[in-house]
Amino acid sequence: MNKILVTRQIPEKFKARLEQYAEVEIWDHHLTPMPREQFLEAAKDKTALLVTLSEQIDETLFHAAPHLKIVANMAVGYDNIDLAAAERHEVAISNTPHVLTETTAELGFALMLATSRRIVEAEKYVQEGKWESWGPYLLAGKDIYRSKVGIFGMGEIGRAFARRLRGFNADILYHNRSRNAKAESELGAFYTSFETLIQESDFIISTAPSTPETQNVFNHEAFKKMRKDAIFINIRRGDLVVEEDLVDAIENGEIAGAGLDVVRDEPIRMDHPLLKFPNVIVTPHIGSASVLTRDQMIQTCVLNIEDVFNDRTARNQVMHKA
Ligand code: DGY
Repeated sequence: MNKILVTRQIPEKFKARLEQYAEVEIWDHHLTPMPREQFLEAAKDKTALLVTLSEQIDETLFHAAPHLKIVANMAVGYDNIDLAAAERHEVAISNTPHVLTETTAELGFALMLATSRRIVEAEKYVQEGKWESWGPYLLAGKDIYRSKVGIFGMGEIGRAFARRLRGFNADILYHNRSRNAKAESELGAFYTSFETLIQESDFIISTAPSTPETQNVFNHEAFKKMRKDAIFINIRRGDLVVEEDLVDAIENGEIAGAGLDVVRDEPIRMDHPLLKFPNVIVTPHIGSASVLTRDQMIQTCVLNIEDVFNDRTARNQVMHKA
């Protein structure tokens, strides 16, 4: 009999569906990840795992779980998974593309609006009883309208973000591994070098996945080249940013602010220097967190598991590229 381990609480309807064809064990917690040792122990006799980014799927896990057929990752990103090891152990890996694209782009847009118009600062200002009168430059921010927005990573999320900019009459620059003809023809996005993108943009939005080529690209040299009034937004992976360099850039006024939905080590430590700046907003990796999208992500995992149990290729199988 197939046995599934689900590493977070999921709605009853998905559990019931999985139970139709497998024995299901659920780590019944919403926010606390399963301790590693317990995870390895629980995975031992399973044929499928439905996991989140918090679980490291590596050689040790594959050794511990010799019956595994599939690991369904509840994320579009899969940097928590050693794909080469999965291939060696003949375990299929699936992700959840497409369903979270628009929701994640929306969160990016929310961060762009919140940082440019200093919404969090303004709300605190009112809460702290500081609002005494109207002032010509009180909490004055920056327009998105007619600004230049540089998108780093023009994949599905980058394109969804660019679509939202149309109503703002913004100029869209982008940098990507390869040119994106659709973004250019449909959205008027203009391909530039990374250098030009960071030098010219009012807003720099990182929507690129974590790869050896993209890790640490937002470093001291990059922040130094940005405009002093630039705002940096990151909605994809924290390890694209050298955080000490971002802290320096904010501290020294090299850029005007940042909106981060992701950081290098999540959850962020409460004494992290990024949390001390009024012009930096950090949200807890909630890019895809609308109820509908989270439902669809779980459903996608379920469908991929069903595919493999029915001897089909998982519909969202992620392939290892040597
Ligand atoms: C993803 O899907 O990769 C997100 O970061 C998790 O919501």
